[in-house]
Amino acid sequence: MDPYKTIISCTNQKGGCAKTTTAVNLATALAEGNPSMGIPPAKVLLIDLDPQGNASTSFGVDKRLDVPTVYDLLMQPSDGTLNVHDYLIGPEILTDEMQRAFKNMNQDSRVPPRLKVENLYLLPSNIRLSGAEIELATKLGRETRLREALAPVMNDFDHIIIDTPPSLGLLTINALAASNWILVPVQAEYYALEGMSQLMNSIRLIQKRVNNHLKLFGIAVTMYTPQSKLSAFVEGEVRKHFGEDVFQTVIPRLMAIAEAPKDGAPVVLLKRPTKRNKGSKQYWGLAKEAHQRILARRAEYGINPESVLRREAIERGDPEHIWDDIED
Ligand SMILES: Nc1ncnc2c1ncn2[C@@H]1O[C@H](COP(=O)(O)OP(=O)(O)OP(=O)(O)O)[C@@H](O)[C@H]1O
Ligand SMILES: [Mg+2]
Repeated sequence: MDPYKTIISCTNQKGGCAKTTTAVNLATALAEGNPSMGIPPAKVLLIDLDPQGNASTSFGVDKRLDVPTVYDLLMQPSDGTLNVHDYLIGPEILTDEMQRAFKNMNQDSRVPPRLKVENLYLLPSNIRLSGAEIELATKLGRETRLREALAPVMNDFDHIIIDTPPSLGLLTINALAASNWILVPVQAEYYALEGMSQLMNSIRLIQKRVNNHLKLFGIAVTMYTPQSKLSAFVEGEVRKHFGEDVFQTVIPRLMAIAEAPKDGAPVVLLKRPTKRNKGSKQYWGLAKEAHQRILARRAEYGINPESVLRREAIERGDPEHIWDDIED
């Protein structure tokens, strides 16, 4: 595995701490990019590795759709004939699904023109994946199935982001074996702190046994209630223990973020990142920090891989100038 590739697992065994919300918004913001924030567009693969399929439904993708999912991919024999692209939902279908879901829920409103994605691909999941933990248990190379399946498409994406279930079972181990970075969302509430040492121990074990490239990408404080002493306390404790690893951007607890899946699109697309739209603004802020960290970590390795989007544009003969005003 290339140690400089951006493959980030969004992981915490604690349930409901905004893993999915963070994975979905980060993947979307990094894919779309925002020149005025210094985020270039990028080709992004979002992998839903949770049988709950919440990342898939965040885009209005119907979980009952009979499409191949990450489950089928993990269960395929590893004989080199896999084509991950056959399992992906591309930007056009994702856009259709989002717009359809928005129309269903808002029959009197016009679909906002910004409700579209161009560079985002989803490897969906559904409840069938819940059998995978048991079925994988007896298979050879059970911890590294995802890593093997992704190997052929590694160079087709700038960033890969994996949403994991709330456990440290085989699915999460597969995600961490395939990743080089782990992003940990921490809910600003008391019990959040208790699970952190267990999580850090598990990361150390994975580093030792399965993937010595795995590193902490960052810790994101989520569902922060302003004016709450408890939220401030938890944030303070997390910063005390994890220092620079904690993102400056804190995600507030907001209705707009909770309601976004109902409208079938991540909040970073539904709302412009303005002062009034704090949910979108903060997730865009997190994406900006994430982009800066990606650049900094790549610089540590002395590597700056060519942007996949730019490479593809040149191959198509598109004008290059669309990237000229974006610092990378
Ligand atoms: N900042 C926020 N403000 C308000 N609600 C939020 C926020 N972030 C997430 N939520 C809501 O909280 C719930 C849990 O979030 P989410 O599904 O992202 O967590 P999770 O860690 O992926 O959960 P699970 O462990 O079940 O996979 C969801 O209903 C989501 O819409
Ligand atoms: Mg989730």
